[in-house]
Amino acid sequence: MNTDIILPAPVCIGGMPLRDALMTRRSVRTYSPRRFNLNDKQDLQLLSDLLWAAFGPISPKRRSAPSSHNRQETDLYVLLPEGAFRYDPSGNRLLPVVGTDLRAASGAQDYVGTAAAEIAFVADTTKVTGKSPRGLVETIYVDTGFISQNIYLFCASEGLATVVRAMVPKESLAAALQLTHSQEITLVQTVGWAQ
Ligand SMILES: Cc1cc2nc3c(=O)[nH]c(=O)nc-3n(C[C@H](O)[C@H](O)[C@H](O)COP(=O)(O)O)c2cc1C
Repeated sequence: MNTDIILPAPVCIGGMPLRDALMTRRSVRTYSPRRFNLNDKQDLQLLSDLLWAAFGPISPKRRSAPSSHNRQETDLYVLLPEGAFRYDPSGNRLLPVVGTDLRAASGAQDYVGTAAAEIAFVADTTKVTGKSPRGLVETIYVDTGFISQNIYLFCASEGLATVVRAMVPKESLAAALQLTHSQEITLVQTVGWAQ
């Protein structure tokens, strides 16, 4: 697919009480073949709500997760059977990146590629200036962690299944996503429905 996917406005209220979500959160490694049906209003709404919860806008300057110096350097690349897309939070849409299914290319564990979506966290390192090499790595991984936990809690709340992964073939996935040298994949998060 090489056209934008316009997402419905996210529902920014409701869901499970926070402490119930914390009690429900867990990593899942067995997925049903169910997909996000991009022609279905409810599935598109769920995708929109998921991405908003992950790292969507909550005010003109702020997002649902904190980031060091509010740099907001993390982009979410959403890998679906229809292709890979970059989440555009201000436009609330998915921008096409590659028209092929890259889910299975995001890891070697047996469940990878079987779930509805893989979300790759990609840091734009040009936005993180004045750091030592170690400081840069610390910053982009910590910022990713907050987004990942948002996804964990949203999935717990909405009956979705998820697991965050460091076991990612970053070099080959970066090439498949046509990333530049200043873009760095930190982690990838599997999202779908439990088997
Ligand atoms: C930074 C990080 C990297 C992880 N990498 C992987 C991974 O590559 N593959 C995997 O199956 N789980 C991975 N996990 C999930 C952990 O194994 C999981 O969170 C841990 O076993 C605790 O289980 P729970 O999330 O259900 O509480 C990772 C978790 C974190 C925080």
